[in-house]
Amino acid sequence: MKDFAIDQKEIERACQFLRAGQLVAFPTETVYGLGADAGNADAIGKLYKVKGRPGNHPVIVHLHELAAVENWAFLSREAKLLGETFWPGPLTLILPRKAHVSALLTGGQDTVGVRVPAHPTALALLSKFGSGVAAPSANKFGKLSPTTAAAVKEGLGEEVAMVLDGIAPDIGIESTIVSLVGEPSILRPGMLLPEDIAAVCGLELKLAYLKSEGENASEKVVKAPGTLDSHYAPERPLILVERGKLAEVLLELGQKGLACNLLAFADSKGSIEEFDQALGAKRLVSRSLFVERQARDYARGLYGNLRQLDQADAACIVVEEPESGSAWHGVRDRLRRAGHGSSLQSLFLSV
Ligand code: TXA
Ligand code: MG
Repeated sequence: MKDFAIDQKEIERACQFLRAGQLVAFPTETVYGLGADAGNADAIGKLYKVKGRPGNHPVIVHLHELAAVENWAFLSREAKLLGETFWPGPLTLILPRKAHVSALLTGGQDTVGVRVPAHPTALALLSKFGSGVAAPSANKFGKLSPTTAAAVKEGLGEEVAMVLDGIAPDIGIESTIVSLVGEPSILRPGMLLPEDIAAVCGLELKLAYLKSEGENASEKVVKAPGTLDSHYAPERPLILVERGKLAEVLLELGQKGLACNLLAFADSKGSIEEFDQALGAKRLVSRSLFVERQARDYARGLYGNLRQLDQADAACIVVEEPESGSAWHGVRDRLRRAGHGSSLQSLFLSV
């Protein structure tokens, strides 16, 4: 295995780039971030430009410890409790911002998103840099988030001064976002679960993200301009299919002469392979990945798996829908967004 002992010279070089207003990508425990000096307006401008992101989408400011967060945001008792418990970790808090925080970072809002990531390379960079690093996920706007240095280079190439490498992200999908401004809410689900957050801060948290799943449809719109319906998308249409309908959908695609790539659960493998092989030469599935029904492992592998399936030639990616329990909320949210706008109907119309 590659040895990822922290190379202080690399960290120092990364800090020099950041101080010079350049962009540095770095690993976190969730996904790779594309970092810029959060106190440098030109650097933030460059960040938006390279990312291809609209200016009203706020970015998260990353810091190395809770005490440093207090330079950027006002922390309530609940915010402090959450920070003390879950940082460093996959939690982003939306809090009232301090006066000096640039409107460029906050999409013009009075709030700022802050996070202390639990990754040795990220923490080494942030503590050496000594100030906030603004970092969206290190992908072009709307594309899949990267979980390897190679995926960052493939997506952003020469546009980044430096890509720091490090141990693979343990979480694999973006942080859980909790807003403590106005009605306490979870804006984006992740692998830190609503019940664990509520248990620590004692607040009742609105699950604002469920609104876009069609549940609680009457609830008010989320204050996270970045949480668009279509986001985190592979190039190929992604079709999310419930377990009971998998065979039917594969067959329907096959009848139209469309092969697919498949991400399904290991316990579906037997039946799908049997069914596929029975069709002989007219095999329906070009490439398949079967994963265990274990939310943390699933999340850790999700973006890598989608990337792999996106690279193999096929008309679409079919994904077996995970169950609906809260452990799966983060994964279901990313899959739903990745599949937004794709349907069998539109696929059939295009052939
Ligand atoms: O795990 C993560 O959070 C990763 C790593 C790199 O830390 N970062 C990440 O950043 O996912 P990004 O920019 O791809 O997503 C940040 C989300 C966006 O949906 C944005 O709208 C929301 O955070 N956000 C940031 N600041 C906000 C604010 N002040 N109010 C509401 N939403 C905010
Ligand atoms: Mg992102």
